[in-house]
Amino acid sequence: MAIPTSRAKEPAKILINTELCNGCGKCVEVCTDFNFKIVDHKIQLSNHSLFGCVACGHCMMVCPTGTIAIEGRELSENDLFELPSKDAVPSYESLLTMLQRRRSTREFKEIDVEETVIQKILDAAQTAPMGLPPSDVHVIVFDSKTKVRAFAEDFSKYLSGIRWMVSKWFLTLMRPFWGKANDEMMRGFIKPVFDIYVDEMKKGKNWINYDAPLAMYFYGSPYTDPADSIVAATYAMLAGESLGLGTCMLGAVHPFIQYGKKARRLREKYGIKYPSREGLFVIFGYSKVHYKKGVKRTFADIHRVG
Ligand SMILES: Cc1cc2nc3c(=O)[nH]c(=O)nc-3n(C[C@H](O)[C@H](O)[C@H](O)COP(=O)(O)O)c2cc1C
Repeated sequence: MAIPTSRAKEPAKILINTELCNGCGKCVEVCTDFNFKIVDHKIQLSNHSLFGCVACGHCMMVCPTGTIAIEGRELSENDLFELPSKDAVPSYESLLTMLQRRRSTREFKEIDVEETVIQKILDAAQTAPMGLPPSDVHVIVFDSKTKVRAFAEDFSKYLSGIRWMVSKWFLTLMRPFWGKANDEMMRGFIKPVFDIYVDEMKKGKNWINYDAPLAMYFYGSPYTDPADSIVAATYAMLAGESLGLGTCMLGAVHPFIQYGKKARRLREKYGIKYPSREGLFVIFGYSKVHYKKGVKRTFADIHRVG
């Protein structure tokens, strides 16, 4: 047994060409699964692996002589590529510039996002830390305003059918069970969200995903760490920003489409394979809004342990 994901249940195979090994031991240093040992200046399998090889590939990536090949869990030697030069890495200043210029964009020009740009976003997002390889993050791509809008209309209709969840009688009934904070959240945030998403859509105004020309929904399988899809979505957002797009994360859809038959039907219609603990939409498009200033944002607290 290995660490399971939806794509892999077995550990990867570690193939060693001993003749090539120069005994440097770099693979021993990087393997967090204790798979290797050096005997007589050559690597061998240690036989005290912790979980079985998860195919992180670090041993292949540090080996200077090509001694190791990992096969399985969706990885092989063919996935190795030459690292771009360190000199080509963006400086802190250029990264900070991009981060400072980012704003949540909700107004888009009537311009499609080109297929090459979509592919670049997906390529960059797939470099995100994958939790346990192979990644269990799934992505649903809505590659036109029409498709984005159609989802919003379906979602709005779906919310209309479960609107009793924010009715006065239901909130009053539930208060003793889910407590003060949840009650306040339901009345102060969730109920107005229902009102806007349902009533405004009927008037033609899409507050759900703002008629963006591109949307991507990141979600995980039941095996996934809940953070994985959020990390991937963040990478996608940053990639979009680097390509000159405006972006916005949308957290308000995912929690509503997890439970019940109606939610399942909506998920099935859009090819969403699982309900999942976390998931996030990101919308992209060429921004209509030009900001003249930024605003400084802060964490709630930065506490240095003494
Ligand atoms: C996890 C997450 C979920 C969000 N969900 C929504 C959303 O559903 N609708 C929306 O209009 N904005 C959403 N936002 C955008 C925030 O409202 C936005 O970050 C905030 O207004 C601050 O603006 P800024 O991103 O331009 O600094 C979300 C942001 C995050 C990080």
